[in-house]
Amino acid sequence: MATQQSSQPSSEVKTEQAVSVNILKGGVGKSSLSMNVADRLAARGHDVLYMDLDPNGHVTFGLGYDDVFSDPTHDLGNTVVYDHTDPTEWVYSTDWGWDFIPASVKLEELERTLSSEGDTSLLRDNLTRPLFERGIYDYIIMDGGGEWSMLAKNAYGAAGQTMIPVTPGKETRSGFKRTFQRAIRPLQKRIDFEILAIIPNKIQNRIDYNYPERELLEHLNRSEHFQEYLPQFARISAEEWDKMDANELDERPKPGIRYSGAFESAFGEGKPVGHYDPDADVLDHLDELAAIVERGGIKSE
Ligand SMILES: Nc1ncnc2c1ncn2[C@@H]1O[C@H](COP(=O)(O)OP(=O)(O)OP(=O)(O)O)[C@@H](O)[C@H]1O
Ligand SMILES: [Mg+2]
Repeated sequence: MATQQSSQPSSEVKTEQAVSVNILKGGVGKSSLSMNVADRLAARGHDVLYMDLDPNGHVTFGLGYDDVFSDPTHDLGNTVVYDHTDPTEWVYSTDWGWDFIPASVKLEELERTLSSEGDTSLLRDNLTRPLFERGIYDYIIMDGGGEWSMLAKNAYGAAGQTMIPVTPGKETRSGFKRTFQRAIRPLQKRIDFEILAIIPNKIQNRIDYNYPERELLEHLNRSEHFQEYLPQFARISAEEWDKMDANELDERPKPGIRYSGAFESAFGEGKPVGHYDPDADVLDHLDELAAIVERGGIKSE
């Protein structure tokens, strides 16, 4: 597999890890962030598999795999449910130095089968674990889809950890709540399940006024439960909030992943942002997210 030039891995690196990027809300950056985190992990020298588990196949279309999407023989169910087919059968190598399992029309049928089986461990048992056991990949990053479907549950089960993108606004706030109530808390009662990071995304307005941006960032930063999951680039201390409100900061903080034209255009052209604009500011944040995956959390253990 071709290795990209770029940023250095963290000194402490936990490999053989999978991550499902998800939240029960559409349009917040699940696909673009998961794809770019996969890309940055590859840029740091790792062997990476990226999987599109969203039956809508947004990334699959975005990356130009339309023909695979409509091909009924691209049927992950053969591996995930029946364990008949070598998982590597579904893998495509991309131009970007990482491998890809595209979505297809067959994901809907897989969803129905998983629902009737009621099993949330099949993806792990028959696909991700065998790939790790064969030493093919360091990381498997999944676009978990955004619905609380059996596929999404299997992705959570296979990964045991998640990254959660959140955007400003009431709708995402209720999606965030639902994700905890319906998905994460019940799962944490049954299995070890970790939140690797909560990622404030698409930040546009300034945070010293009462915009939804402020509400989101202040809520997360002041929350006992959520603050620990914020990457450095999204953190604002209580002291900084106070100073900002008293106009005592020389520079206004710009926490979170900002709305970025490069990010949007790159995704629109089916490219990771690092290959679209190697100088884009957002790359530093994406590299921090890749480092969080390497360490297995915000802080090293
Ligand atoms: N930080 C950002 N700056 C600019 N555009 C962004 C940013 N994050 C995401 N976008 C854009 O927002 C749109 C939605 O993002 P994306 O498709 O990744 O979200 P999603 O949560 O996967 O959506 P869906 O629920 O529809 O699958 C895309 O056009 C993407 O390029
Ligand atoms: Mg998506």
